[in-house]
Amino acid sequence: MIHVPVLLQTVIDFLNIRPGGRYIDCTLGTAGHAAAILEKSLPGGSLLGIDADPRAIEVAKKRLEHYGGAAILVNGNFRSLRDICREHSFYPVEGILFDLGLSSLQLEDEERGFSFRFDAPLDMRFDPGQPITAANIINNFPEGDLAALLRKYGEEPQSRLIARKIVSHRPINTTLQLANIVGQASGGSRGRIHPSTRIFQALRIAVNQELTNIEEALEQTIELLHPGGRLVVISYHSLEDRLVKQFMRRESKGCLCPPDVPVCNCGHNPTLKLVNRKVITPSIAERKDNPRSRSAKLRAAERL
Ligand SMILES: C[S@@+](CC[C@H](N)C(=O)[O-])C[C@H]1O[C@@H](n2cnc3c(N)ncnc32)[C@H](O)[C@@H]1O
Repeated sequence: MIHVPVLLQTVIDFLNIRPGGRYIDCTLGTAGHAAAILEKSLPGGSLLGIDADPRAIEVAKKRLEHYGGAAILVNGNFRSLRDICREHSFYPVEGILFDLGLSSLQLEDEERGFSFRFDAPLDMRFDPGQPITAANIINNFPEGDLAALLRKYGEEPQSRLIARKIVSHRPINTTLQLANIVGQASGGSRGRIHPSTRIFQALRIAVNQELTNIEEALEQTIELLHPGGRLVVISYHSLEDRLVKQFMRRESKGCLCPPDVPVCNCGHNPTLKLVNRKVITPSIAERKDNPRSRSAKLRAAERL
């Protein structure tokens, strides 16, 4: 299953790619964006591609083979962005891309448990070497903690009811078992969104510690970017987008002291300039051709 890169031309334009430049793709996936970035950075350009999923790295490696040493691929977590760049002496850079969430390669894999369209073990790890799976959370978290997780990461209004139902049906080991229980607890489908969508989102975020990773990685981008270098982030749900928006807004401001502090004591200087004030979303045509792009939101900023 090949993943269709979202907002491809906008990513290329906003990264402001130039021949000979160095770029980082923190979410390599099947290298759709990465291939286009490398192509545009020729001659002399290079790309460091990172993915937590070794299967994504395998696919990307084949796809980028003909770029030789210009493509450095690392199976790792972007939470360690600074260390990965140091290890490969790959900084400062002209651009950094995050295309968050999961790829079609993962979503369509019938064995990894990301989708309730296939019956599979409740796994949901991007990195199969990591110890916690979705089944661990579903079967071991105390009811209150499970409800809090479903509310926080899935914004699920019926989190307590669903958590109670899950706990009373333990052990739950497969995606379809879980989807049935969620369906029973929430009384079937409300509107266009399947009741399991939010629950699966919440579990995936928790298993992969997605929000903490994004927060930590964004902080590290500032020191890695050349002045004039660009940071481009595509997010797919409001929790991710909020983090990106807050980070870019904060870094584009000077003083961050509360309004009642008479004299600045934070000493904060702006490090970024916003490239787009209004968030960019895919065109109607792209959304139609690639339904996965429907919830995408792109934000970009330039290093001062
Ligand atoms: C939406 S896909 C990227 C698709 C890619 N842009 C393409 O064109 O094929 C997101 C990728 O990010 C990876 N990922 C998510 N969180 C990660 C993290 N913290 N560290 C490294 N990779 C991560 C996932 O494994 C997945 O392959």
